[in-house]
Amino acid sequence: MTTATRDRTRTLAIDATGLTKSYGDKKVLDGIDLRIPEGTVFALLGPNGAGKTTTVQILSTLITADAGRAEIAGHDLTGAADGVRRSIGVTGQFAAVDNLLTARENLILMADLHHLGRREGRRRADDLLARFDLTEVAHTSVVTFSGGMRRKLDLAMTLVGDPRVIFLDEPTTGLDPRSRRIMWEIIRDLVADRGVTILLTTQYLDEADELADRIAVLDHGTLIAEGTADELKRRIPGAHIRLRFADVHRLDAAADLFRATSRNDEALTLNIPCDPGIPTLRAILDALDTASIPAEELTVHTPDLDDVFLTLTGRPQVDHVPDSRKENPR
Ligand SMILES: Nc1ncnc2c1ncn2[C@@H]1O[C@H](COP(=O)(O)OP(=O)(O)OP(=O)(O)O)[C@@H](O)[C@H]1O
Ligand SMILES: [Mg+2]
Repeated sequence: MTTATRDRTRTLAIDATGLTKSYGDKKVLDGIDLRIPEGTVFALLGPNGAGKTTTVQILSTLITADAGRAEIAGHDLTGAADGVRRSIGVTGQFAAVDNLLTARENLILMADLHHLGRREGRRRADDLLARFDLTEVAHTSVVTFSGGMRRKLDLAMTLVGDPRVIFLDEPTTGLDPRSRRIMWEIIRDLVADRGVTILLTTQYLDEADELADRIAVLDHGTLIAEGTADELKRRIPGAHIRLRFADVHRLDAAADLFRATSRNDEALTLNIPCDPGIPTLRAILDALDTASIPAEELTVHTPDLDDVFLTLTGRPQVDHVPDSRKENPR
């Protein structure tokens, strides 16, 4: 059975049609359809202002859509909003932890909100602290936490209610590479161990690639592409190896050798479109060696969100707000 056939026979955790939202005369979402099978990870990929947070807010009942309908875990978004709320967990774009409390107190507060009872609430809190490697700082005030610790605690708080469907709005924006990897592992484990469904938003193609079974690209409130990471990447011929040479003679010789289509005579660089794996790298270096053409520099370029947008829309990302805006939430 192919993945596609299996997905079609699975129950949908999120089934949304025609979601529309405007603020004033600005249309923020223009008819979004999403079908997300249970037990899968779906990434909504898009630049600043694309409508990612708005989509999450609608699907998690925080705001209402102007038009369209959706079922989450079998509950109708408008007709059975309580059922939706009982089935979901939301980790917002900006950490919702209470700075004045300790990590454990934050978790117990969530447990109380879920009416878990004193013993069960404490058990769940300690269990989550251990799972997220936060036991040592359980009794530390959250105000001293780093961004990564905060994000982990935020996700742990989302899990207190044992949700079947989890919304993660930019779970790793602002995290350093190591914390990002830890967060990715946690997300993967959630799906593998508990079979939850995750809808995450991200601005990073590599993150969507790492985590998601399917990816949808959102641009100005419209889905402009949807598919698996491989399907999308096949449509985006952005991967290439770039070679830089000391002078134009060497550049000429290399351009002949690789019959490369794109060269920059000013920068003395040559772009070789390819799948930049180790065998390709080795073949390129061997060919240069054999032809006695020394290169000054070799860089590997894998497709990023810019390539996705250039390919799909014919223009670079627009409305780009510097990432620094996100570094200082609240
Ligand atoms: N409450 C609001 N009132 C007016 N406009 C809003 C409101 N919320 C969002 N918008 C606008 O809707 C558009 C989409 O916003 P949204 O927050 O969904 O984008 P996003 O994809 O999450 O972006 P980011 O990557 O910056 O988080 C933006 O142009 C934003 O200015
Ligand atoms: Mg957002």
